[in-house]
Amino acid sequence: MTRVVFISADGEHRQEVDAPADSVLLNVAQAAGQPLEGTCEGQMACSTCHVIVDAADFSRLPHASEEEEDMLDLAASATRTSRLACQIVLDDALESLTVRIPFESFNMQGM
Ligand code: FES
Repeated sequence: MTRVVFISADGEHRQEVDAPADSVLLNVAQAAGQPLEGTCEGQMACSTCHVIVDAADFSRLPHASEEEEDMLDLAASATRTSRLACQIVLDDALESLTVRIPFESFNMQGM
């Protein structure tokens, strides 16, 4: 089980969910009603599953692949600790993971 904490783009809302081992972060986020589109369903062909990982947690995750890095280069508002949620598999050793929803997803929801 991994405790996942989602922080809204404006930093005002926080949602905590427990995800079973080996869940994909994108699926956990969508099941929790977080505004991540994940248009390509994990094919690394979009960047609508972009999340900003808490700096301390970022260093505990396995590194992003080159394809993922390339896709993140195209994501608006990507930061040093950005990842694609469809590429993060939650492993029990992680225990907890905090991610923030970037502004572009937030704006898309509001339209
Ligand atoms: S869902 Fe498209 S890159 Fe993650």
